[in-house]
Amino acid sequence: MDRIRIVGGRPLNGTIPISGAKNATLPLMIASLLTEDTLILDNVPRLADVIQLQRILGNHGVDIMIAGKRAGEAVNNGRTVHISAKSIVDTTAPYELVSKMRASFWVIAPLVARMGEAKVSMPGGCAIGTRPVDLLLMALERLGATIEIEGGYVIARAPRGLRGAEITFPKVTVGGTHTAMMAASLAQGTTVIENAAREPEIGDVADCLNKMGARISGAGTSRIVVEGVPRLHGARHTVLPDRIETGTYAMAVAMAGGDVLLQNGRPELLQAALDVLIETGVSVTVTNEGIRVGRNGAGLAPVQVATAPFPGFPTDLQAQLMALMTRARGVSRITETIFENRFMHVQELVRLGAHIHLDGETATIEGVDRLKGAPVMATDLRASVSLVIAALAAEGETIVNRVYHLDRGFERLEEKLAACGAAIERISG
Ligand code: EPZ
Repeated sequence: MDRIRIVGGRPLNGTIPISGAKNATLPLMIASLLTEDTLILDNVPRLADVIQLQRILGNHGVDIMIAGKRAGEAVNNGRTVHISAKSIVDTTAPYELVSKMRASFWVIAPLVARMGEAKVSMPGGCAIGTRPVDLLLMALERLGATIEIEGGYVIARAPRGLRGAEITFPKVTVGGTHTAMMAASLAQGTTVIENAAREPEIGDVADCLNKMGARISGAGTSRIVVEGVPRLHGARHTVLPDRIETGTYAMAVAMAGGDVLLQNGRPELLQAALDVLIETGVSVTVTNEGIRVGRNGAGLAPVQVATAPFPGFPTDLQAQLMALMTRARGVSRITETIFENRFMHVQELVRLGAHIHLDGETATIEGVDRLKGAPVMATDLRASVSLVIAALAAEGETIVNRVYHLDRGFERLEEKLAACGAAIERISG
């Protein structure tokens, strides 16, 4: 199993290219199930989660062609992927595939909308909380599907097609909003989604669906209106930049010091996180190439932050901010309001010398003068990268184990950081 070795204490200087967003790529690939025609996606990141979703779609009969690198093309360009769900040979998504990646459960929506039925394994629990799917199923039921749960599988049926409906989510859910939007695109009549998630990835998927012939308005607000159409067609779409990758590297620079251009980073996708960084004393400048982040010498001010649905501070940056605050001059408080158990990084940060006290959903972090390298591991993607951030400022060597978590969501992480001067390398095997 690969590991990452980091020797802390080096500032970061240079340019980090931001990849296409994982959390837009996954639902965009799933949206390909809605049409017989080819969907072409540009700027697709090279990630383990993308490869896993390829396997899942392949199991339904979807053809996926990934364009090779053209002569002269920079390695940091995302890939172009051609996806054709011309004939769906199987409407079942088995446990072995779905259990590896929760977002794959979302295939249930396009399958039932286009094929009239879908049988998808329940995704099960995971390292950051219970993560139920009740709201996704509620949305499909509102659209006229019948839902049965049998042997760990959800069976959704709508033999005569879905019908437009009013769907009010009692809680903001990204997956619920994606699936409701996809299913409603092929339903008969109009669907109104209230209390919809406003995450930028929802807007990106809505844009792509509209290019495919859907009639969606209001994506990016909490009220989305979808006028169903009988069929969708092929389209070409460029995946938006990854706001979580952008925020992660911004925090890495804040931690290590230095000055880095986050190329293609878009500030409006993560304003709440940038505001918090500015509050800590880090300099953030927007240029026409991206976002410049710098910290030269000055200490970090502590902050009080609670995660919230977009446009609030993202839960997917909570662990990274906590790593940064381990070195702040004073006491910070971070409250996690989205997932009940997203603190797997705390005990590992403590192993590096951090002072963190957990009380329910709030972590109190007392900044320390120094962290010291150690072997660490984490059980989810964002927790793993928070350990990398801490290691950049820790004295001596840190080995981050279970690197496959990082590979799920960060493209060429060690290369990007090493190019800016970090002492970081992958140890294979
Ligand atoms: C998406 O997960 C992201 N995943 C997550 O990113 C992200 O942390 C999360 O949104 C919140 O922003 C992808 O986009 C692929 P939710 P999702 O439905 O859609 C509860 C990462 O590291 N809920 O918005 O699964 C749920 O338990 C990942 O990249 C229900 O109660 O999240 C949570 O408390 C991790 N019933 C809250 O809603 C449901 O049926 C928000 O979850 C669905 C959700």
